[in-house]
Amino acid sequence: MSDVSYDLEGQIAVITVDNPPVNALSRAVRDGIRQAFSRFEADDAAGIAVILGAGRLFIGGADISEFGKPPHPPSLPDVINGIEAAAKPVVAAIHGTALGGGLEVALGAHYRLAMPGATLGLPEVKLGILPGAGGTQRLPRLIGTEAALRMITGGTPIAAEQALENGLIDRIGTGEDLRAAALDYAGFLLDEGAAPRPVGALPRPDAAPIDAWRKTLEKSARGEVAPLTALCAIDAATRHDIREGLAEERRLFMHLMETPQRSGLIHAFFSERAVAKLPEIKGIAPRAIRHIGVIGGGTMGAGIATNALLSGLSVTLIERDAQSAEKARGTITGILDAAVSRGMLDAPGREAILTQRLQAGAGYDALKDTDLVIEAVFENMDVKKDVFAKLDAVMRPGAILATNTSYLDIDEIAASTSRPADVIGLHFFSPAHIMKLLEVVVAQETAPDVVATAFALAKKLGKTAVRAGVCDGFIGNRILSHYRTAADHMVLDGASPYRIDAALKDFGFAMGPYQVSDLAGLDIGYATRQRKAAKAHPKDRAPTFADALYHKGRLGQKTGRGYYIYDAGDRRGRHDPEIEAIVAEARAQEGTNPREFDDDEIVRRYMAAMVNEGARVVEEGIAMRPLDVDMVFLYGYGFPRWRGGPMHYADTVGLDTILADIRRFAETDDHFWTPAPLLERLVVEGRSFASLN
Ligand code: 3HC
Ligand code: NAI
Repeated sequence: MSDVSYDLEGQIAVITVDNPPVNALSRAVRDGIRQAFSRFEADDAAGIAVILGAGRLFIGGADISEFGKPPHPPSLPDVINGIEAAAKPVVAAIHGTALGGGLEVALGAHYRLAMPGATLGLPEVKLGILPGAGGTQRLPRLIGTEAALRMITGGTPIAAEQALENGLIDRIGTGEDLRAAALDYAGFLLDEGAAPRPVGALPRPDAAPIDAWRKTLEKSARGEVAPLTALCAIDAATRHDIREGLAEERRLFMHLMETPQRSGLIHAFFSERAVAKLPEIKGIAPRAIRHIGVIGGGTMGAGIATNALLSGLSVTLIERDAQSAEKARGTITGILDAAVSRGMLDAPGREAILTQRLQAGAGYDALKDTDLVIEAVFENMDVKKDVFAKLDAVMRPGAILATNTSYLDIDEIAASTSRPADVIGLHFFSPAHIMKLLEVVVAQETAPDVVATAFALAKKLGKTAVRAGVCDGFIGNRILSHYRTAADHMVLDGASPYRIDAALKDFGFAMGPYQVSDLAGLDIGYATRQRKAAKAHPKDRAPTFADALYHKGRLGQKTGRGYYIYDAGDRRGRHDPEIEAIVAEARAQEGTNPREFDDDEIVRRYMAAMVNEGARVVEEGIAMRPLDVDMVFLYGYGFPRWRGGPMHYADTVGLDTILADIRRFAETDDHFWTPAPLLERLVVEGRSFASLN
């Protein structure tokens, strides 16, 4: 069957786009729509046309997989201009979602109906582009400049009700049956003698809001080019007639198509879907999870429990004693209260969670009926083994035993139980109810259906799960430890921590490494260094300035002072003049001669360290593919999404350039800067990380 069908119901031509899974506007669909409209124009029996989508949504947009390839006619703008120019009225009937090019098709129609629950949006900026098939010209004409700026530069879809309010749609359909609602509306329009009503013929929208929006976007863009370019396209709508405006939109669209940001964001789009596609779980049914246990109700345990409760699961939380259990319940209640005040949960929902779905206590027997338990007690192997022995004794056969350990050897934990196949790592990030990343750490004996269950659970919890193998720090923390060391070396060699933070924020990171240390707490880094001290190499350089801060009790935000000073109520922090002396002492101890570092060198060293360790992690099979590393950094470490992730970034820069940097840095420190064999091999073969995805 063709991707676009045409059938006549009375005088109504029904044009159906049927291109699963999201009715993307592929070349065949564009061609099909054009042919269907030619037939409609020529069909004397048809007085009005309805365009709708088969399956679960209207149209999910242009076919993203065609981006970056040579374009094939007919172009989407031409197809949509053709719809708008029809001499007989056209209705778009929207259900599910109408996104990007899909909404632009609807804007080319003369009347729009949406079913209850439908969402409509122009999310192109999230892919590094702008609506390139008339959206920036027609939407402001239809709903006004201000509302169009909000939808287009923000990229967030709106609900049908809001679309009705702002004039984007004309009617909300009734009932469940899309086709019936569409036919009903089209029949009504026919009876009324409704004429074509092209949006492009509406007057130019108001230019007044543009300047204020530009200023706001300039502040918030953080290096992203698409939102401001989209604003320029809307600005063109306020100054030109539709034909010239469309031409300007096209020009800006084609410009964005060529940018590395477009390639980074589209890499992110496909990679976040690819991470869950694992050969080892293909076709394997996950175990059912309704009720989970959480051991330890501290920072992580309370966050994990809240995340599960907000996702509809029941939670039994076990602490060391009744008092600690009550404290954990208090923490969870506090997070739920915050969710209520932000409008994300209603008061009865909060009440139901606290009275019906959360139990907190100290007796492990309460875990008998749980399907899966996540351990989040102190990061100490003996404590963990003790907890796992208790779990092994009480949990029913088939239940899953997971650990949230950050660094410890999960194979060793698993081997201490009688059921290693049921043991897995579920490594959440702090705050666990907010951070999207979940590393699913697969141990040697972990059964495939346990892995499948972990991925299914992640989906339920709203997390992006990435498979990792067992090693010190798994994917994220292992690579972090390496590039943090590169940053510390730069401080020892003369760079100020503030300069490093600023350079990396300019690069696009949400925070610089020393701001992150202050947020996490300097005691965490200290404990990690202590843990690794026994295995340290004589040539390893110690960041003694960080130890000095720890010993002075400057643990970061929680003590009001770390690398930065945090005045009451301020979480951004200000520079501390004392840091210079503390760092100078560390340099003197090491006997280094401080020198200048510019932003470019800071970024090059930091990124080279990240990419080099990323390559090792891939080569060792800790990450399955480079894209898994990228997703860990996008979702867990504040890496700028528009750069696609460290491995994609490395491809953009050129692996030969990164390798040359590493070799140059090795001239003064060949201990830290040893090129990863995979990186060397790819350069010799002229290949990219993408070739391993
Ligand atoms: N083009 C090509 N493939 C697409 C696609 C698109 N626009 N949208 C989704 N897909 C693919 C996904 O990659 C996935 O493939 P897979 O099964 O092989 O992994 C499959 O369709 C299903 O997608 P999801 O898993 O995301 O399905 P959901 O039901 O969760 O979500 C959706 C559906 C809300 C439509 C979501 O897929 C989405 O947000 N898609 C992107 C929408 C978008 O950004 N549209 C704008 C495109 S750019 C544009 O239109 C330019 C124009 O202005 C000229
Ligand atoms: P925390 O110190 O805030 O909480 C630990 C909790 O476990 C305490 O409330 C303690 O009373 C409880 N506990 C200790 N022994 C117990 C036992 N035998 N039975 C029941 N409860 C017990 O620690 P945090 O930060 O929550 O870390 C927990 C685990 O999560 C650690 O393994 C840590 O490495 C890991 N993790 C921590 C992250 C973080 O950013 N804090 C991020 C990701 C993982």
